Amino acid sequence: MNKTKELQGLANFEDADFYDQVQVINSQSSWQPVNLIVFGTSVISSSITIISMGVLLSAYNPLIALLILISMIPESLVSYRVQQEAFETMVDASSDARKMQYDSQAVLNKDFSKEIRLFNAFDFFIKRYQEIFWQIHHAVNKTRAKKMIVALISMSISSVICVFALLWFVLSIQAGRFRVGALLTLTSAIGYIAENIFSMIEDSSLLYNTLLYMEKYFNFLKSSDTIEKTGRIKAGDIKRIAFRHVSFAYPNSKRLALNDVDFEVSAGQKIAIVGENGSGKTTLIKLLLRFYDPSQGHLQLNGQAVQDFDLVSYRALFSAVFQDFAKFSLTVKDNIAMSDLNRRNDRAALVKAMSASGFAPNKGLSQNKLLNIQLGKEYADGTELSGGEWQKISFSQRDFCRSKNLDSR
Ligand SMILES: Nc1ncnc2c1ncn2[C@@H]1O[C@H](COP(=O)(O)OP(=O)(O)OP(=O)(O)O)[C@@H](O)[C@H]1O
Ligand SMILES: [Mg+2]
Repeated sequence: MNKTKELQGLANFEDADFYDQVQVINSQSSWQPVNLIVFGTSVISSSITIISMGVLLSAYNPLIALLILISMIPESLVSYRVQQEAFETMVDASSDARKMQYDSQAVLNKDFSKEIRLFNAFDFFIKRYQEIFWQIHHAVNKTRAKKMIVALISMSISSVICVFALLWFVLSIQAGRFRVGALLTLTSAIGYIAENIFSMIEDSSLLYNTLLYMEKYFNFLKSSDTIEKTGRIKAGDIKRIAFRHVSFAYPNSKRLALNDVDFEVSAGQKIAIVGENGSGKTTLIKLLLRFYDPSQGHLQLNGQAVQDFDLVSYRALFSAVFQDFAKFSLTVKDNIAMSDLNRRNDRAALVKAMSASGFAPNKGLSQNKLLNIQLGKEYADGTELSGGEWQKISFSQRDFCRSKNLDSR
C-alpha cells in the first residue's frame, strides 16, 4: 500500500503484467516471508546434519560418503527446475486467475447484481470460470506429475547407493575390518543422511520458490513511476494554463488520443470543451491533472512547465468530477472531505458544500445526522444512495475543495 503512494501516474495500473505481479504478491504476501524463515532454517539444519554424518561416514569409507552426497545432485537440480516451472505456471496463471476472480465477482458483487439478473447471465460467468479453472488445474497437474517421476527416479538411485554401502560394510565386518557394533553407527549415519537429503531437497526447492517470489516482490518495490516527479516549485495559484502542441497516445496504444492540441486559458475564464465521444476530452483533463505526461509537446502553468512544480501542490490546485467518479463506502462527511482531507473537521464548510449541491436524501434529518450517514451496503448500517444523490455527493466534494472547478465528462 505504501508503494502505491509512490506511483502517481496511472499507466502502471493499465499494464497487464503489472497487475499480474500485484496479484501474485498480494495473494502470497502473508505467508511467503514466513516460508523464507522456515525453509531457510530447515535447509541450514539439514546441511549441518548431512555434513557431520558425512564426516562420520568418511572415517569408515570416504568413497561411500562421497557417493551418497553425489547422488543428491541430480535430484536437487531437477527439483529446482520443476519448482521453477511450478512458479512460472502460477505466474502464467495469474492473468487467468484474475479472470476467474472477475467472473466470481461478477455474480457476487452488488454492482453487477441488476444486469446479471435481468440478462440471466449467471451461467455465462460460471462456465467461463470453470473453463479457466480446468485449464489451470491441467497445467498444475502436469508439473506435479513431472515432480513425482523425478522424485521416484532419484529416490531409487539414492536407495541403490545406500544398499551398496550397507553391503560393503557387512562384507567388511565379515573380513574383520570393522567390529559388529560399528554397524549401528553406520546404519544410523546412512539413515540420517538419507532422511536429511530428502528433506533438504524438498525444503531447498520450496526455498527457491520463495526466493523467486521475493525477487518479484523486490521488483515490484523497484517499479518506477510513469510520470516525471522531479519538480520542486510549490504551486501557488492558477493564472494561466497552456497546452503547447500536445499529442498523447495511451500506453500500448499507437492511436493518438490527442493530436497537436494547442490552447491557452486564463484564470476567471469559463470554458467548455466539446467534442464527440472518444474525441479526447477526458484524456485532456487527465493530462492536465498529471496522471500521464504527454507523448509530445508540453503543458504550462503560469508560463512554466507543469513538470517543474511539486506534484502534490500542483494537483491541489484542481478539483474534478469524473464521469466514473469514485463512490467511497465511507460516511457522507468523509466522502465530501476527500477532496481536502486536512479540513475534514471543518463542519461549517462541509455543511456549506453539502447544501450547495442540494444533497438531502431524507428531509427530516438534521445536517449533523446527514453528514454521519454511512454509505455503502457492505456495512450493516450502510445506506445506498440513488445515482443522482451520489452525483450530488460528488459535486459537494468539488465545492468543498477551495478554489478549483473542473468538470470532466
Ligand atoms: N485508459 C485508456 N487506455 C487506452 N485508451 C484509452 C483509455 N482511455 C481512453 N482511451 C481512448 O482514448 C480516446 C479518447 O478517450 P476519452 O475518454 O478522452 O474521450 P472523451 O472525449 O472523454 O469521450 P466521452 O465523450 O465518451 O467521454 C478513446 O478512443 C478511448 O478509447
Ligand atoms: Mg469523457
